[in-house]
Amino acid sequence: MMQFIPLASPNILDADIQEVVNVLKTGMLVQGKKVLELEAHIGSFVGAKHVAAVSNGTATMHLALIALGIGPGDEVIVPAFSYVATANVVELVGATPIFVDIDIRTFNIDVSQIESKINPKTKAIIPVHEFGLACDIEAIMQLAVKHKLFVIEDAACALGAKYKGVNVGTFGHFGSFSLHPRKAISSGEGGLLVCHSMDYLNKIQILRNHGIELKNGKMDFVAAGFNYRMTDFQAALVNSQLSRLNDTLIYKNELATVYFELLDKTKMTLPQIPTHSTHTWQTFHVLLDSKIERDGIIDQLKNRGIGTNYGAQCIPAQTYYQKKYGFDCLHEFPNAYYAYNSGLAIPLYEKLSKEDISYIAKELNKLL
Ligand SMILES: Cc1ncc(COP(=O)(O)O)c(C=O)c1O
Repeated sequence: MMQFIPLASPNILDADIQEVVNVLKTGMLVQGKKVLELEAHIGSFVGAKHVAAVSNGTATMHLALIALGIGPGDEVIVPAFSYVATANVVELVGATPIFVDIDIRTFNIDVSQIESKINPKTKAIIPVHEFGLACDIEAIMQLAVKHKLFVIEDAACALGAKYKGVNVGTFGHFGSFSLHPRKAISSGEGGLLVCHSMDYLNKIQILRNHGIELKNGKMDFVAAGFNYRMTDFQAALVNSQLSRLNDTLIYKNELATVYFELLDKTKMTLPQIPTHSTHTWQTFHVLLDSKIERDGIIDQLKNRGIGTNYGAQCIPAQTYYQKKYGFDCLHEFPNAYYAYNSGLAIPLYEKLSKEDISYIAKELNKLL
């Protein structure tokens, strides 16, 4: 009997653990030297001037919105299909998320639908590089320039993904990455915020640390900030994994190629990768026929030793958003609603072999 294959599992090597132990032995457990090292490494990895490591990916976007001064009365455009955090942060600052449907071929925001949602209240766009696939960020930046909007790229799943050869997360005013264990590298919980402006970086550094500003070596509390800091042992864990991230992404791409070869395209729709974009394969997400009961397939795959799940939420269909705004998702966001109800995330991570992938592909083909 084959061992159960979970949907996701982080690849933590003994060498990574040793780096954490080394930090623990120093007794320096909060934010310090290792966080600074991580910020420098990420800056050179993605090509960003400034990086702030924080406690999770949601915190990065929350801080970015506050630093940009977005709040009550403002509108922020977000895709209707993403992890719910993308819209929650807009709610958290008292602004209103304006949902835009996705392109069903890529699961990324449908750029052609953005402009009709822009009005004088619109202050920002949060495009998501969904599941790790670079979205059409160039077209989004053009719209942002035309309408004088801020852009916070939600690249939670997309560390290492490129658009026209340039790392995502570096196009907008801010780029946000998550280090949750379902990502290619992880600190348990963790987030990275990149930007190109020293002024923004200063604001983020102050806000993540209780609003503290150092003036002549003395602490002054200049904002009602948060404790959104990352610990040094978490940073050490990520630093260690970062050194092999490029190899990890190459291997994940090879695994994805096996899925493309073996999954039966007459029975499901596979994701499309536009020419200018690369994919980190944080999630391999297929679309089932709407007549198939997806949750039954999830149960049957589980019985065959394979963990799967739906991929992301149609955010406006979630209870909080339904109660507050009462969307008719089937008609207003048909693609997001379809992806939410018929999408299936299947395992793809570094610890799996090509044999595992081919077993999963064959079992899924058989069930459809
Ligand atoms: C698209 C997207 N945005 C934001 C987040 C939030 O990141 P975190 O869990 O690190 O807070 C996630 C988490 O998986 C995500 O997938």
